[in-house]
Amino acid sequence: MTAAITEIQDGDVEAVVALWQRCNLVRPWNDPVEDIRLARESGHGVVFVARLDGCLVGAVMAGHDGHRGAVYYLGVDPAARRHGVGRALLARAEGWCRAGGVPKINLLVRKENLGVLSFYDTLGYRDTHTVCLYRTLDDDKAGHEAAMKDAWAARVAQG
Ligand SMILES: CC(C)(COP(=O)(O)OP(=O)(O)OC[C@H]1O[C@@H](n2cnc3c(N)ncnc32)[C@H](O)[C@@H]1OP(=O)(O)O)[C@@H](O)C(=O)NCCC(=O)NCCS
Repeated sequence: MTAAITEIQDGDVEAVVALWQRCNLVRPWNDPVEDIRLARESGHGVVFVARLDGCLVGAVMAGHDGHRGAVYYLGVDPAARRHGVGRALLARAEGWCRAGGVPKINLLVRKENLGVLSFYDTLGYRDTHTVCLYRTLDDDKAGHEAAMKDAWAARVAQG
């Protein structure tokens, strides 16, 4: 089975968001529709989708800041995993970054998702031995987002 990989089209957005939700990639503080819009309109981002037999089974977002590439929202439908779709999507994102002239890719793995590290290790990704920090630049949203993240972390800690 070889996945057909193309750039996302307007008509794919709803299915991609539903896929990312099935893959447990969306959090309450994310707005995936807005993330897709920004990636597509920024001039330095892209979203690829993968289809098997015409069915949308995977998606990934990539971007670069002129120095490093970044990969976000890599997800494959649970029913289509272990058929090389994730590998193919990541290769496409890497190709896009390479074409953009950036020499490395960084990506984030949530602490509650460390099981995915075997996948990335197989594909040559290594621990940066760094800590990733963030700041929400919209002060009105910052407190709300921090509260949502704390509530989420508490839920994860409770199992
Ligand atoms: C991670 C994910 C995208 C992998 O997609 P996939 O299509 O199943 O991956 P592939 O079939 O291309 O796997 C390529 C190789 O990675 C390794 N691999 C993939 N999934 C693995 C797993 N669960 N455990 C161990 N190794 C794994 C295998 O070596 C595999 O090759 P093989 O099947 O020939 O042995 C998919 O499991 C997923 O959507 N997970 C949920 C979302 C997620 O966590 N995304 C990453 C966010 S950082």
